[in-house]
Amino acid sequence: MSGLIITVAQQKGGSGKTTVAAHLAVAFALAGKSVGILDVDPQGSLGEWFERREATLGEDDVGLVFRTASGWGARREAKQLARDHDIVVVDTPPKSDLEIRPAIEMADLVAVPVQPTPVDLWATAPTLAMAAKEGTASLIVINRALSRALLTAEMVTAAGELGHAVAQTHLGNRVAYPQSMGEGRTVLETAPGGLAAEEVEALAREILKQAGRR
Ligand SMILES: Nc1ncnc2c1ncn2[C@@H]1O[C@H](COP(=O)(O)OP(=O)(O)OP(=O)(O)O)[C@@H](O)[C@H]1O
Ligand SMILES: [Mg+2]
Repeated sequence: MSGLIITVAQQKGGSGKTTVAAHLAVAFALAGKSVGILDVDPQGSLGEWFERREATLGEDDVGLVFRTASGWGARREAKQLARDHDIVVVDTPPKSDLEIRPAIEMADLVAVPVQPTPVDLWATAPTLAMAAKEGTASLIVINRALSRALLTAEMVTAAGELGHAVAQTHLGNRVAYPQSMGEGRTVLETAPGGLAAEEVEALAREILKQAGRR
């Protein structure tokens, strides 16, 4: 059976795609899955993170297989990774439809990170529309949520009213995320058992459930 393909996409820049992709990939790997990651973003941020990971942990201990691809080549690369792995996580660029569409079309689920503000929520519309058009299930992931912020709750309600699925788990706005990424690691490794690690693990479980496999 071919592995599950999870694409992280959101045309708005800086919404947390690369951070979410890296964290989900490591969460799946630590849960015992074999995981491939695919960077279709020409900015190559996920690749840079992976190179740092190799430098920090050693090439044999990164726990993930990394590939890059662009445009429709992404489809072929993702399918190939999915043949050899339980899960493939795909990171996408902002804006470029050319790179995003195939990555959405080939996915079992699109995770759409969004910061909880009205403007950011509006900016998810093209990505969610693309997923609907390609027949791929999508899940909005609230990222950089501020604790006890009324706005976050309002955004969840607003997204629900638009008919979009929103992950129950939110990722908080925590310095632990950029700090861990800078070392090629994730909060699961720099602060295991902490609040950030707990929310990432919960999100990874929720995404697998949503994508139809446990
Ligand atoms: N939950 C979080 N808490 C704190 N900082 C975060 C969080 N998520 C992301 N960031 C920070 O926000 C910035 C943008 O994140 P990231 O690079 O993951 O977004 P992106 O959507 O991949 O951006 P791009 O569109 O340029 O590819 C980075 O500096 C990152 O460290
Ligand atoms: Mg990115």
